[in-house]
This record gives sequence, C-alpha cells and structure tokens, in this order.
Amino acid sequence: MSLLRRIANRAAQTIRDFRNREVEVISHMDADGVAAAAVISLALDREGIEHRVKFVRMLYREVVEDLEPAELTIFTDLGSSQLENLSRKYSGHHVIIADHHLPDAGFEWPELVHFNAHRMGIDGMQDISGAGMAYFIARELSGKNKDLASIALVGALGDVQNAWGSLTGLNTEIASDAIEMGLVKKEHDLLLYGRHSRPLFKALENFNDPPIPGVSGSPAGCVSMLKQLDIPLKSGDRWRRLVDLSLAEKQKLASELIARIFLTVPPELASYVPRSIMGEVYSLTQEEDNSLLKDAEEFATCLNSTARHEQPVLGLEVAKGDRGVYYRAMLRLIRYHRRQIAQGLEFIESTGLSEGPRKYLQYFDATGVIKETFVGTLTSMALGYQYSNPFRPIVGLVRSDGVAKISARCSKLLFLRGLNMGLAIREAAKKVGGEGGGHAVACGAQIEEKFLPEFLSKFEEIMLNQLAQH
Ligand code: C5P
Ligand code: ZN
Repeated sequence: MSLLRRIANRAAQTIRDFRNREVEVISHMDADGVAAAAVISLALDREGIEHRVKFVRMLYREVVEDLEPAELTIFTDLGSSQLENLSRKYSGHHVIIADHHLPDAGFEWPELVHFNAHRMGIDGMQDISGAGMAYFIARELSGKNKDLASIALVGALGDVQNAWGSLTGLNTEIASDAIEMGLVKKEHDLLLYGRHSRPLFKALENFNDPPIPGVSGSPAGCVSMLKQLDIPLKSGDRWRRLVDLSLAEKQKLASELIARIFLTVPPELASYVPRSIMGEVYSLTQEEDNSLLKDAEEFATCLNSTARHEQPVLGLEVAKGDRGVYYRAMLRLIRYHRRQIAQGLEFIESTGLSEGPRKYLQYFDATGVIKETFVGTLTSMALGYQYSNPFRPIVGLVRSDGVAKISARCSKLLFLRGLNMGLAIREAAKKVGGEGGGHAVACGAQIEEKFLPEFLSKFEEIMLNQLAQH
C-alpha cells in the first residue's frame, strides 16, 4: 500500500472510531475548501456520522482562540501551514488534517493524523488540492465514495491546478475516477468561460487573458468576426454556445483568435499563446445542459463566489447535491456578485491604476469601496479590464486598522513564461514581517500598512528576477 493510502486509511479508521462521538469539520473558505468540506461531509453522511461543518479564512492565532476542539476535528484544505497556531489549542486532541499547503515543520502531536501531500513527496501546489486530499480519505472510508471524485476535481480547478492547460499528478487519477464513474467528460477545447452557459459571442466578449483585439470587450466585434468566419450565431431561435460548434468551426475560431492575439502580445510571450487559449476542459455529465454547474471550472467559480461573500454553506450544500433552496440562493448571490464587480470596476476606471515603485506592476487601493474579502475577485477582473496593462501583474489592496490586505493576479502567459507570483509574494511579505502566499497567477498577502511601498518594491524586484532567470 502506498504511503498516501496508508495515511488516508489511518484517517478513515480514526473517523470510524469516532462514529458515535462529536465530530466537527473545519474547512478553508474558498472554492477548494468548500469542495473539500462537501467531499468529507458526504462521506460522513453516508457512514451515518453526525457532524458540524464550519469555514474559516485562515487559522490565524485569534481565529484558533475562538475554536473549541470537538472529540474529533477534521481540518480540510487548511491546517498544515498554521500548525503552530493550531497546536496551541488542539495539541492532545484528536485531529485529522487533509491539506495540500506547505506544512509547518514540527508542532505535531500523537493524536494528529497529518495527511499532507508535501509530506509524502507530492507537489501540493500543482498535483493535488485540498478537496483531492479529502477525496482520498473518503475513498478509503468506502469504495462507494468514488463518485465524489467529480467534486474533488472541481476543487482542483478552484485552486487553478490546471494552469498549464492540463491537470497533473494525482489530479489525473481523480479525473480518471470521475470519468470512470461516468460523472465527468474530458475534452480538449477553447478555454472560454461559459462554454455551456453563455451564447458564444458573449463568452468571446468576456475572454481577456490574453486580450483578443476586436473581440475582448466588444460584442459587435465578436458578432462580425463570427460572421466573417461563417460561424452561425444562432441555431433556430437559440444562441449557439461554444459546445454547440462543430470541430471544424472550433478549429477555424481558434486559429483566428490566435492570429489576432499575436497582433498585440509582447514578442517574448507569443510562444505561450496557443496554450493559453486551448486546453483540457471538464463537463459534469449529470448537470443540466446550460447550467452554471455544467462546466467544472464554472462550478468552482460558483463555489468561490459563495466563499467570497461569506456564504460558504450555500456552496457546500450545492456541492453536496442540493439543486433547490440553496442552489437558488446561490444563483441570487452570483447576480449580486456580478453587480459588485461592475461597481468595483467603475471605481477603478474613475481613479485609474498606479505604478509600482519599480514601474513594473500596476495597483489600485479600494479602501472604503469594497470589502477586503472581495479585493481578490476585483483584482482578477481588473486585470482584463481595458484600463489595465494585461501583460503586467496587477495588485489590489484594502487597508483597515493599519493592516493592508493585498491581492495580486497576472496573465497566464506570464506564468507560462516563468513567473510565480505565489512564491514572490510570500517572500516579499515575509521581508516586511507579513504573511503571503497562493498560486502562481493568483495570490495574496497581509502586511502592515506602513510597509506598503517597501513591500511593493520587493515584490516587483523578486518578480523581475524570476523573469530574468527564464
Ligand atoms: O484573497 P485572494 O483571492 O487574493 O487570494 C488568492 C490566493 O492567495 C488564495 O489561494 C489564498 O489562499 C492565497 N493567500 C495566501 N496568503 C494570504 C492571502 C492569500 O496564501 N495572506
Ligand atoms: Zn486548496
């Protein structure tokens, strides 16, 4: 039995041992964390094990202070990297951690089952998500839980583990399980958001990483390009979506988009263009044809919205299968989410973006305009906005009580070219006594407000070095 299965098995056995005791699941408040909680919660339901589910942003010291250890606590998609904080309260208590973040060294205790990808030599940044780790425990609990692979896959996409255009490592095993169960279909396709849920011209209009001249942000341009390519906009009286196109139509469209992107992309990024617009996509076979949940990545975005607005329970119940009350509430929340994005972008348009001290990155300060949990979403949207430079990293921040909450995003092209902002922000934040981390194209940090200029300068310096080395 592999080390992975051995530890997953120990976690499963611990869960069985606590069958009639008090069990609590505590998960990360993001898309992957919601998916991870759904996987474990369904597995517990199926065993008839009662439990509570709670979500937290991070296990900061003061957050841990407010937690009360249950007889068994299962942490999913968090715990490993804040083990020191956790051990203050949970040392001596029965705990399972199923996580893929870099672990804190030391601070373990005998009653802890620490199921962390990195500790088994697995790349937790890329090859497995928190939901994936939870899935391996669920699969050890019962073979019946193999159908939870599709939710684990949603979690991996929520953590952008497909940034190279395909999944790697253990994520491919999870995808295979989901495909084998008939729950997921994998295809190679254009990477347009809304393949199943939006009219093609709308999906094209919204595509902006990298921006497509005459297409991104231009509904009229999309319509005229499709006409030129002889791709009908409608079939009968229904708008055609990307999934309605024939292979020949998709090929024609992909070639045209690539040719247009080449017009504006900086030469050093040009070779990465094809990979940024074509790649693996996953559809969930059981979902309604034009639902927001049909495409696995879109499903992840829905879960992300619920977490951003501190309503992760909506995402949890939808991921667990609800298509009634919680689902409708989630759709309402997504409409609100889109309005908030529009307002945030208007604000950026009115104030403009500032340049970093070394004139590489661009940033905005939305203090007093948006909630700090929303700055990440707004930063993502601002990257593709016409007033920003799409080929430079972008930083958004909100200040409160002397602390700056920072989000950073960059084009997938820069990542393919060698930029890893997650590593850069961690180092830059540490340099000024703060905390930071995340993915190569989407990361964040929290630092003392007074160190902002120093942080920005350090962040730029590290990124410029990364690019110089490639
Ligand atoms: O908040 P935001 O959406 O910008 O976060 C993007 C990513 O960066 C998330 O995966 C988050 O967990 C990570 N992050 C982090 N440390 C921070 C802030 C964010 O690892 N202090
Ligand atoms: Zn995760």
